[in-house]
Amino acid sequence: MRFKEKVVFITGGTRGLGKAMAKAFLDEGARVAVNGRSKEAVSRFEDEFKGKDVLAFEADIGNYEQMESVAEKVFNAWSKIDILINNAGVVNQLMPVEKIKKEEFDRVIDINLKGTFYTTQIFGKKMIELKSGRIISIGSQVGFFGEKGFLPYSISKSALMVMTRSIAHEWSKYGVTACAVAPGFIKGGMNEGLIKKEVFVNFLSKRTPVERMGEVDELVSLILFLASDEAKYINGETITIDGGMTGFTQEPLLDFIMKGK
Ligand SMILES: NC(=O)c1ccc[n+]([C@@H]2O[C@H](COP(=O)([O-])OP(=O)(O)OC[C@H]3O[C@@H](n4cnc5c(N)ncnc54)[C@H](OP(=O)(O)O)[C@@H]3O)[C@@H](O)[C@H]2O)c1
Repeated sequence: MRFKEKVVFITGGTRGLGKAMAKAFLDEGARVAVNGRSKEAVSRFEDEFKGKDVLAFEADIGNYEQMESVAEKVFNAWSKIDILINNAGVVNQLMPVEKIKKEEFDRVIDINLKGTFYTTQIFGKKMIELKSGRIISIGSQVGFFGEKGFLPYSISKSALMVMTRSIAHEWSKYGVTACAVAPGFIKGGMNEGLIKKEVFVNFLSKRTPVERMGEVDELVSLILFLASDEAKYINGETITIDGGMTGFTQEPLLDFIMKGK
C-alpha cells in the first residue's frame, strides 16, 4: 500500500488512461478524485468505484472557476492534496500546418496547455500552503520532436515539459516537486479505435525499436513510481516511455549505406 492516506487528483480521470491510473492509486490505498467534461463518464466512474474513497466532478480544466470550485471541494472533503496528475488532454485533428484552423489550434492549446496550467496553479497553491506536493504531467514523445500533422498537440505537450522544469525551479523550496512523462503510442485511451485496426498497430510497431505499442499497465507503473517516495529526488524531469521510439529512424544511416554495398 504505497499510497495509504494520500490524496490524489487526476484530471480527465473518468476514462481512458486516467481511469487506469485512478484504479491503480485506489488499489494502493489512496483517496482519488477525478474530473472530466462528460456527465455520463463521471456517473460511470462513480458507479464503477462505488464504496471506494473516490470523488468525481464534471468540470473543464480550461475553466478556471470550475477548477477552483473542484479543488475547494476536494480540500473540504479530505483536507489536503498530495499528488496532482495532469492527465486530461486532447489531440488535434490531423492536419498539415498551413491548413490548421485557428479554432482547432485554440481548442488544443486551451485544454492541454492553459487548462493544465490553471489546474497546476490552483492545486499548487494548496500544496504550497501544505508545504508538500507532487505534480506529474502527461506529455508526449511528440513534444520532443514534433510529428507531421500534430503541430498544436506537439507544441502543447512540449510546453508541459518546460512547465515541469519551471515548477521544479520555483516550488521545490515549498516542498512541491514536479515531473512529466512522455509516452509513445499506448494501447488504450485515445488509441482505443486505432488499435482495433491491425494495419495501424503494425505500422506503429514498426516505428518502435521494441516492435510493439506500449501497454496501459506499463505507463501506469511509471506514474505510480514517479508519485512514490522512491522517486522523490527525481524533479523537473520528463521521462520518456515509448519503447525507444524517440529519436529512432526507421532506416538508420548505417542500414542505408550497407544496402548500397
Ligand atoms: N493514449 C496514448 O497513447 C497517449 C500517448 C501520449 C500521451 N497521451 C496523453 O495521455 C493523456 C490521457 O489520454 P488518453 O489516451 O487517456 O485519452 P482519452 O481516452 O481521450 O481521455 C482523455 C481524458 O481527458 C478528459 N478531458 C479532455 N479534455 C478535458 C477538459 N477540457 N477538462 C477535463 N477533462 C478533459 C476526457 O474526459 P471528457 O472528454 O469527459 O472531458 C478524458 O477523460 C492525454 O493528455 C494524452 O495526450 C496519451
